[in-house]
Amino acid sequence: MEVAPSILTADFARLGETLEEAVEAGINWMHLDVMDGNWVVNKTITFGPALIRSIRNRLGPDAFIDCHLMITNAEETWSQYVDAGVDLVIAHIEAVDDAAALIANLHAADCQAGLVLNPDTPAEAILPYLPELDLVLVMSVVPGKGGQSFMPEVEDKVRAFRAAIDSQIADGGRPTKLMIDGGIKDHNSAQVADWGIDVAVVGSGLINDRGTIAENLAAINRALAQ
Ligand code: DX5
Ligand code: ZN
Repeated sequence: MEVAPSILTADFARLGETLEEAVEAGINWMHLDVMDGNWVVNKTITFGPALIRSIRNRLGPDAFIDCHLMITNAEETWSQYVDAGVDLVIAHIEAVDDAAALIANLHAADCQAGLVLNPDTPAEAILPYLPELDLVLVMSVVPGKGGQSFMPEVEDKVRAFRAAIDSQIADGGRPTKLMIDGGIKDHNSAQVADWGIDVAVVGSGLINDRGTIAENLAAINRALAQ
């Protein structure tokens, strides 16, 4: 299972150094959480395309960058994130009207397409789009901030996506990746790997006062190896 850092608990004044620390620790996938001050329940603003462009410039072309759009108007503004240099745009199914059109637009712009669902949204909301999706993201917290507690009740939904993706791949379809986001730490990383997660977003479990990113990643990898 791959680990992608979320930078919400980072010191934004030192973001470049933090991201380079992640790259030096062997991390290649960066997960950028975009909130518009409106869509998430706590009405927070994080950052937008300008900061993402700076991150792309700083990390260079080899890093894989996704943006997790927690915004009301992803269908209007997705191209700003493509122009900023992301490899994958992930939009909330609860916030889009025509997911098929958004996926087609992203692919036409040579960008990977992902959909994400909240803890209380059923898998059926996304399953019809699976054949066209590069990634499905299951939220294991209510989106809005880093450092929240993991919600183990999403297990059945994760396993349903794993089974659907495995059968899609067995039929020669797209190898859609399965990601989880929220509350992942060293103590539950093996659990979600066992559910069939390909990529775990880890924010406060990687970027915290207790250790360096390399030390925290090593603890996760030790847990995964057991
Ligand atoms: C929550 C964000 C997550 C979050 C992860 O709204 O989508 O990416 O920052 O942070 P942790 O790992 O601390 O839950
Ligand atoms: Zn996220």
